[in-house]
Amino acid sequence: MGSSANRRNFLKLGAAAVAASFSAVENAFASRLTETLGGAPGSAFAGTPSAAGGGAKAQQFSGLSAAYGLSADITYFNHASIGTMPRIVMEAREQYQRACETNPWLYVWSDGFGNARESVRQKAAAYLGCDAEEVALTHNTTEGMNVVSQGLPLGPGDEVLFSSMNHAGASVCWEQQAVRRGFSTKRFELSAAGAEHMTPQALIAAYERQITAATKVLVFPHIDNIVGFRHPVREMADMARARGVEFIAIDGAQSVGMIEFRVEDLGVDFYCASPHKWVQSPKGTGFFYIRRDVQPMVESMWTRSASSRQRQTVRKYEDYGTRNLSAVMALGAAIDFQTRLGPAAKEARCRELWQYFYDRVAGSARLIWRSARSWDFASSLFAVEIDGVPADEAFQRLFQEHGFVFRAFTGGGLNHARISPNLMNTEDEIDRFVAAAEAL
Ligand SMILES: Cc1ncc(COP(=O)(O)O)c(C=O)c1O
Repeated sequence: MGSSANRRNFLKLGAAAVAASFSAVENAFASRLTETLGGAPGSAFAGTPSAAGGGAKAQQFSGLSAAYGLSADITYFNHASIGTMPRIVMEAREQYQRACETNPWLYVWSDGFGNARESVRQKAAAYLGCDAEEVALTHNTTEGMNVVSQGLPLGPGDEVLFSSMNHAGASVCWEQQAVRRGFSTKRFELSAAGAEHMTPQALIAAYERQITAATKVLVFPHIDNIVGFRHPVREMADMARARGVEFIAIDGAQSVGMIEFRVEDLGVDFYCASPHKWVQSPKGTGFFYIRRDVQPMVESMWTRSASSRQRQTVRKYEDYGTRNLSAVMALGAAIDFQTRLGPAAKEARCRELWQYFYDRVAGSARLIWRSARSWDFASSLFAVEIDGVPADEAFQRLFQEHGFVFRAFTGGGLNHARISPNLMNTEDEIDRFVAAAEAL
């Protein structure tokens, strides 16, 4: 037998060994998942009853914080900046890592491009609501946007449109490529100040006014990171296409894992995500939807093997050599965890927390609501101003004196605490925040 046949046989055996040890981790994780969250998606969380009041979902998710490793010294209201992994996902990650370290070469090369990674692609596709052949496993939203901005065939005469509310990760790559390749970008001013008066119709109209015959690509967030508008993506995409826009790219950093939707229903071409926020996956794991029929038009950003197998499929967008397989596998575990929580139940609980916070602010003489006022247009990322207190100073004091973690926004007419609770937060934490903020 020739040496290449030997190598093939060895890799086949190796792949079987990798599959066996990974499926042992997967089985152990499946048991831990049922112990932690119960058997059926969104059914019940086996926690202890909460003392705090709250809506119907408060009971269901009470005690969930025990499933995470957040420090007892803090109250974490900053899931929009970065999420926290459930303990059992961390354990699974360690176990995958341990397996990989038993024979690093074997794990990276016999299965690095094999079945293990494909199982995660399948999970990500089911979670996003699309076909697995439309999902690339990236590192974050920024990478997805870079793929699109580098890969789309754009040149002189083409314009890419986005607003000043775009995160840097969804705008700077376009500006840089425009300089290099001669297309243009239009970043129009859309102030987040006065967000409490904005409506979905006004938001759509603000974008519509900016579209011209040159606009070829429209880029916007599903949920922005400043005041948390839940953009009416389908309506905006339909409006833009009716005005001749060819490509729609969505920044989904804040939406995937927070609100329930199917990407296929949105009518967009690209949807870039950072599951290390709301899906609570290992840091630096991402996924990216790219509609099947646009894939032949979009070059990959990097190439290592350029094999024909890679080039003709969505895998071309992740063709850059060695990657951290244990983190990718743990992304699969994180998706399983979120699926078991149940996306509908999760959004319902986020909505309860939002309503509770909204009502507390409405009843306060010191706090001012600075985000959308109806859940359909809002999200679990919202802005609260503390009257007379600069937001930076409020953050310093509320963190140092009370352990609250959130983000401050100032400048451009903004002065707010950005609060982003996840479903392990409680009404009691909100009460404590309101009391501490009012006392500043
Ligand atoms: C709306 C939005 N887009 C993009 C990003 C960038 O995310 P990442 O660093 O994971 O690419 C963030 C990060 O906070 C964000 O909030």
